[in-house]
Amino acid sequence: MSNSGYQAPLGTEDILPDKIGLWRFVEDTARTILGRYGYSEIRTPIFEYTSLFNRSIGEVTDIVEKEMYTFQRNSDDKDDKDSITLRPELTAPVVRAYLEHNLDKIKRFQKLYYIGPLFRHERPQKGRKRQFHQMGVEALGSTDYLLDVEVIDLAMSYFEALGIKDCQLKINSIGCPACRDVYREVLKKSLDKHKPSLCASCQERYQRNIFRILDCKKPDCRKAAGTVETFEKYLCPDCRQHFDGVKAGLDAVGVKYQVSAQLVRGFDYYTRTIFEITHGSLGAQDALCGGGRYDNLVQELGGEPTGAVGFALGLERTILALEALQVSVPANPTPGVYIITTGQAHRAVAFKLLKELRKRGVSADMDFEIKSVKAQFRSADKSGARFVATIGDDEARNNTVKLKDMARSEEKEINIQEFLTDKSINDLIGQK
Ligand code: HAM
Repeated sequence: MSNSGYQAPLGTEDILPDKIGLWRFVEDTARTILGRYGYSEIRTPIFEYTSLFNRSIGEVTDIVEKEMYTFQRNSDDKDDKDSITLRPELTAPVVRAYLEHNLDKIKRFQKLYYIGPLFRHERPQKGRKRQFHQMGVEALGSTDYLLDVEVIDLAMSYFEALGIKDCQLKINSIGCPACRDVYREVLKKSLDKHKPSLCASCQERYQRNIFRILDCKKPDCRKAAGTVETFEKYLCPDCRQHFDGVKAGLDAVGVKYQVSAQLVRGFDYYTRTIFEITHGSLGAQDALCGGGRYDNLVQELGGEPTGAVGFALGLERTILALEALQVSVPANPTPGVYIITTGQAHRAVAFKLLKELRKRGVSADMDFEIKSVKAQFRSADKSGARFVATIGDDEARNNTVKLKDMARSEEKEINIQEFLTDKSINDLIGQK
């Protein structure tokens, strides 16, 4: 219960210092792996003009119909009159930036990544937030099936590097618009007789976005979806060849997958390969990562025909999986040196020493609550500092500190200048 009566908005979360170690771990590991795979970071605004999302994600999708945080400002300023939306995803903003800054002209093939917050007005539950964070990649400028394999392998390698074992990878191909037209008719025909048993949403989906019936979780809809022939059977020769290439590529690098005919994704921009990575520890919201190819989006947003593929993975869910698996992560940083003073008069000397240590690259701290000596020792202990430097009357007079190595329980008195260049202190330089 909050002390002030104020709470963070429903579906949002404060990330407190005791969780930051986990966040840094998932972010730092991401940057290491992404660097290894040759991806460069891109940062786009938190909000975009609404039309970008309507156009790219698709008007008849849950996100655009129900989940966007959209604002219209009443102002005389022309720019302010345009509707803006807090980004519910980052694929469209990255493509927008790729075109706006002519990245395609500078170097057509670009491998980009992002880490940041997103906003969707969904019903909050475990693993489903209204503000959440994604790490994602967008590889633009190629239709090579090996690039699909690369991004899938990258996501799987990331989870492996974090220690999240037993991830399930599902893949499917939803072909190109031509295959989709053919398959839409197949679906209409096969699902027609099951229409009365479909849930209310799927009855509507039958008219507006029939592919989404395939991933409805309701038992009757699943049963109906189970009776239809797979999309794979209706792929055109080029899309079939592409999908075969992806499967062979995954086999070649030893990435295990399951082809799932039921897999569809909630965005209109996908073509050909789509995939999802789930983890059994997560409960109902078990998708850690989703992605796929979107060969028509760049053109749809005003560019040349440009093959592209990417994914995004949810960092909150990644952290939930790490916690469920009790994967040990690096602890929060601890100071190298904690300085204690036995009297008010020595605090200025201590403070100067603190500054010198920090200048040398050593993490150091002291008491700022004017605590008793005993309480300062308790704080030093709690901080986990490797060395405790005490300045009392004798030390102040002699220009020394009493230095205790907490790991070895050894204590010595040392001149302040020598202390600053002592080997044990040098060893702490740059340590986090
Ligand atoms: P998405 O499947 O909507 O794909 O989101 C990717 C991941 O973000 C999900 O698998 C999940 O882990 C996490 N996520 C989604 N919604 C929430 C939520 N409300 N709370 C917590 N986590 C959530 C995309 O966003 C596409 N832009 C991915 C992509 C990139 N496709 C191609 N390139």
